[in-house]
Amino acid sequence: MAYNLLKGKKGIIFGALNENSIAWKAAIRAHEEGAELVLTNTPVAIRMGTIDELATLTNAKLIAADATSVKDLENLVSQSMEHFGGKIDFVLHSIGMSPNVRKGRTYDDIDYDYFAKTLDISAVSFHKLLQVAWKLDAIKPWGSIVALSYIAAQRTLYGYNDMADAKALLESIARSFGYIYGRERRVRINTISQSPTPTTAGSGVMGFDGLMDFTDRMSPLGNADALECADYCVTLFSDLTRKITMQNLYNDGGFSSMGMSNRAMAVYNKNLDECKDCK
Ligand SMILES: NC(=O)c1ccc[n+]([C@@H]2O[C@H](COP(=O)([O-])OP(=O)(O)OC[C@H]3O[C@@H](n4cnc5c(N)ncnc54)[C@H](O)[C@@H]3O)[C@@H](O)[C@H]2O)c1
Repeated sequence: MAYNLLKGKKGIIFGALNENSIAWKAAIRAHEEGAELVLTNTPVAIRMGTIDELATLTNAKLIAADATSVKDLENLVSQSMEHFGGKIDFVLHSIGMSPNVRKGRTYDDIDYDYFAKTLDISAVSFHKLLQVAWKLDAIKPWGSIVALSYIAAQRTLYGYNDMADAKALLESIARSFGYIYGRERRVRINTISQSPTPTTAGSGVMGFDGLMDFTDRMSPLGNADALECADYCVTLFSDLTRKITMQNLYNDGGFSSMGMSNRAMAVYNKNLDECKDCK
């Protein structure tokens, strides 16, 4: 159901690779709510994925950009303003990648060039985007910028590897730039900390199926799916959340406040004998 929450608003959405992507669902929901969109991803992701289908579905302009390249971001932001005929109301940064996770390097054996790439792609790209938008004065007053995070920024979760460090940095950048952007330009910046979600990036995490089952059992409302994350993004892009900024907001069915649930305890008790030697 659509509420016209984004009628007349213009936004850039990063990170739709295929229809499982959280950004894909966010683009569909933002379009349904009346927004005009620019979609972006790396040239490789555009070739390998199906973002052109999404551009057709949402009547959006597609502009390639590697989010680690300041030059690409400058081109993206200025071309988007030209396309919209003015400034931008909202941006979704939905980008994450760790070469260490991809190559199976564990946290006690990470490759530091890969680590630098993880941080650049998954966190520093957010700073680059904010700084480019700041210098081009591209965001309208009361605009909204959102990035997607994960609870591994606060708590240690087996297998999340150097992405945990990237998410901690991402959330910190949202606060640091959120102060400047709020004070000077009345623009809000938040991160949404999302439940594990079966996407290309999500499924790359070690033991992902077990993790999804665990968090679902632990969450009184169950895991939040990609569409529920998209709905939350829409509220944050809308005028209904104008004083929310510099926050890390959990969209996780209650997981982040739980210690142990009955549904998780049931599985744990059943497997206790089998796990005598688990570390
Ligand atoms: N899936 C989950 O379990 C989960 C949970 C919490 C948070 N998140 C976060 O949600 C966001 C979106 O991920 P997703 O789960 O939809 O997976 P996804 O694989 O569909 O999206 C990740 C996107 O990042 C893009 N990307 C990678 N390198 C890039 C670069 N240099 N420049 C621009 N784009 C680049 C990819 O092309 C891809 O479109 C990520 O920040 C991820 O960490 C995911």
